[in-house]
Formats: sequence, C-alpha cells, structure tokens
Amino acid sequence: MSDFLDIASTDADALRDMLARASAMKAARGDRPKGTPDDEQPLAGRVVALIFEKPSTRTRISFDVGVRQMGGTTMVLSGADMQLGHGETIADTARVLSRYVDLIMIRTFGADIVQEMAQAASVPVINGLTDSSHPCQIMADVMTYEEHRGPIAGKRVAWMGDGNNVAQSFLQAAERFGFDFTFSGPEQLDPDPSLMGALRASGRDMRVERDPARAVADADLVVTDTWVSMGDAESSRQRRHNLLRPYQVNAALMANAPEDAIVMHCLPAHRGEEISDDVMDGPRSVIFDEAENRLHAQKAIMRWCLGV
Ligand code: CP
Repeated sequence: MSDFLDIASTDADALRDMLARASAMKAARGDRPKGTPDDEQPLAGRVVALIFEKPSTRTRISFDVGVRQMGGTTMVLSGADMQLGHGETIADTARVLSRYVDLIMIRTFGADIVQEMAQAASVPVINGLTDSSHPCQIMADVMTYEEHRGPIAGKRVAWMGDGNNVAQSFLQAAERFGFDFTFSGPEQLDPDPSLMGALRASGRDMRVERDPARAVADADLVVTDTWVSMGDAESSRQRRHNLLRPYQVNAALMANAPEDAIVMHCLPAHRGEEISDDVMDGPRSVIFDEAENRLHAQKAIMRWCLGV
C-alpha cells in the first residue's frame, strides 16, 4: 500500500503504470452508463473517505463515481462537519479513520496537513489538492495530452498566469514525464523557485518568459488556471487581476502558438478572465476531456495505492 502525496514523491515508473491502467480501464468501460460497475471490481468491500476542507465539483464527484464503478463505497466528508474542524488533531483523525476505512483522500490547505495525515494513518492517503500541489489533476492532464497528441516526453508545456498549486505539480511532472516547461506570468506570482530549480537541475529546459506571445511560440500544450485560487485572500483579487490580465489565453495569444498546440484548464474556469470563450469552446480546447480523465486517472491512482 502506498500514499499518493505528490508527483515528485512518486516513482516515475509507477506514474507511467498508473496512466497505462487508467487508459485501459477507460477503454474497457466504453460508453456504458456511468453508474454501472466495471468488469473488474478491485474495490469490492472497500470504503473510501473523501474529506474536503475546500470546495470541489470535479474531485468530489469523480472520486465518488470512480470508487462506485470499482465496487467500493465512499463517505464524502466536510472537514468543518468533522471534529477535525473543531480541534481534533490531524494525527488522531488519521488514526481513527484508519480503523473504519481502507483509503483516505483529503483536500486541504497546507501540504503539512496531508503529510501528517499520511504519517499517522495506517491506510493510504491521497492528496486531493493542497495550497501547494494538485497531483491528481496533473495525472489527468498528462493522460489527456497523450490521448490527443501522443507521448508528452520531449514536448513543451507553457503555463500562463499564476504560478499556483497546479503549475507547481506541472513542474514536478515535467521532470517525471520528461517534458520541458515555460512559465509565463508576473514575477510576483512565480511558482516556488526551488521547484523551478529542481526541474532545471534534472536537465529539462525550464524557462521563465514574461512575454506571453513568446512563451506560447514553441508550446505543444498551453495551460492556464484561475487568477484567484482557493486559499488566496479575497482582498488580493483586484491586484491579481491587474497583474494577470496580460496572460489571458485568448484567440490573439493562441495565434502565436504552433498550429497543433492544444489548450487545457483544470476548471473551474472564469470565462473572460484567464481564458476567453472562443478558446475554451474552440477546436484546440481539450478541457472537458481533461475533466473526464480525472475519473479514469484517479481510479488508477486508488488501485495503485491499495495494490489491487
Ligand atoms: N480541478 C479541480 O480540482 O476541480 P474541483 O475544484 O471542482 O475539484
């Protein structure tokens, strides 16, 4: 049994195996109705706790449906409704949950919270997003890129805007999956410099390009995300919008990108802010395939965690 806490803390071969299994499971399901079981039922008899200390649509529903398709049951829990939100420690919560459930997925604030839960739990723990990373998202993103364009190794991802948790998981994925990375955003919102340094040290080409048109010029994949993430102070909204406006992914920007470059956004999108309607709904967008692949990628992640 293994925790899935970050891309960088997971072996590259294991990540590859998970994506291969995700694709195989997706193909095996075909078009059957979402509520029908998979042919294989590896989670039969297993209970999965899904804990949310922040809002979610995709993560909540895709994990829940994924567990059901694999024969397991879920408990979707709000941190605020648990004693966790009223002073019970993370470690004690982890010890107790380990007596009731077989797997824990938690979406929370600091990475330290997920680490502490994983240390104290005797069942696997999955990081369902923290302020600093979103590894499940990036697994779906790599899967989606490869479905549309083939191997991501040797390609270049251009990230536009805020160097947030998703951007940081992309930086980790670039090393693990062997692609190059351009960050294009204002200096004030750069990703963690240590992650950029680690990618450079691995031998990949990690570039910071403040000019968005130049940043997408050699991109195979252009990615953006909301300008105000969960955890960012509401009072910073206007300042962030002012800083990030030049990095909107729109038709004028994409005219600078290679013809076969595709666009991703992990959602929820703020149409007209970080991305325009015409790009989001246009032929280069794979955004809704990306959202679907959360389901398939996470099913493979859960199987890997449980060794089933
Ligand atoms: N992309 C993502 O994690 O979506 P949710 O916040 O809706 O779970």
